[in-house]
Amino acid sequence: MRILIVGAGGHAQVVADALQCASKAGSIGQPIGYLDDNPTITGELRLGLPVLGTIDRVSAIEHDALVIAIGNNHIRSKLYKQFQQQGESFATVCHPRATIAHNVTLGPGVVIFAGVIVNTGSRIGANTILNTACTIDHHNWIGDHVHIGPGVHLGGDVQIGTGTLVGIGATVMPQRQVGTWSTVGAAALVYYDVPDQVTVIGMPAQISNHYNPKRLSTQ
Ligand SMILES: CC(C)(COP(=O)(O)OP(=O)(O)OC[C@H]1O[C@@H](n2cnc3c(N)ncnc32)[C@H](O)[C@@H]1OP(=O)(O)O)[C@@H](O)C(=O)NCCC(=O)NCCS
Repeated sequence: MRILIVGAGGHAQVVADALQCASKAGSIGQPIGYLDDNPTITGELRLGLPVLGTIDRVSAIEHDALVIAIGNNHIRSKLYKQFQQQGESFATVCHPRATIAHNVTLGPGVVIFAGVIVNTGSRIGANTILNTACTIDHHNWIGDHVHIGPGVHLGGDVQIGTGTLVGIGATVMPQRQVGTWSTVGAAALVYYDVPDQVTVIGMPAQISNHYNPKRLSTQ
């Protein structure tokens, strides 16, 4: 199966590496190259794979599935909906050194990096990133277009709403609910439930009034 990687930045290269490791370990998916909206990098090689052109070239390049390898949840979600309307298929990428329990549900386009552990009964929504060495305990419900950052720990029965970013090293206590399109700041401890569309920081995590929404847009 030929997989096209949308994006060619740092995150996309970790996705390429996960695909290459999975392929060496016997997975049928093979990355064939990247698409990126920076036209000046077309033709460059990254991890031995070419940047094949800009994102609008997708239908001109033969492939079986694609994966959207862009960290920003808003951009990734927008592209996912656009490609879905175009009838594209989405690959699920799972590094061979991630540990996923047998009865976990993974949506299309999910990306799982090295060292991740997902425990029994959890559901991971479409187009979601489980970044390096995060742990998702039992019976979690993770929405679509979510990013669980590196080293995050989610207790059992946690819910994370659509589009939310849980920042690097944060911890969510068991049975807590985090709303949609929110941001949990790096290293925060989610002790209280988090509503939709807010940023929380600290220990215990509380809504931050002085964050900078313009910078947040790049996450
Ligand atoms: C919380 C967050 C979204 C705020 O981003 P921002 O709006 O650009 O915030 P700023 O950097 O302007 O900082 C605003 C204030 O919040 C503080 N702050 C920022 N992040 C914080 C955090 N995680 N915990 C505690 N305080 C934090 C800053 O020190 C600053 O305080 P000051 O005004 O007293 O100096 C961001 O810092 C963060 O933690 N993002 C997570 C990113 C991440 O882990 N991504 C995954 C990548 S793989």
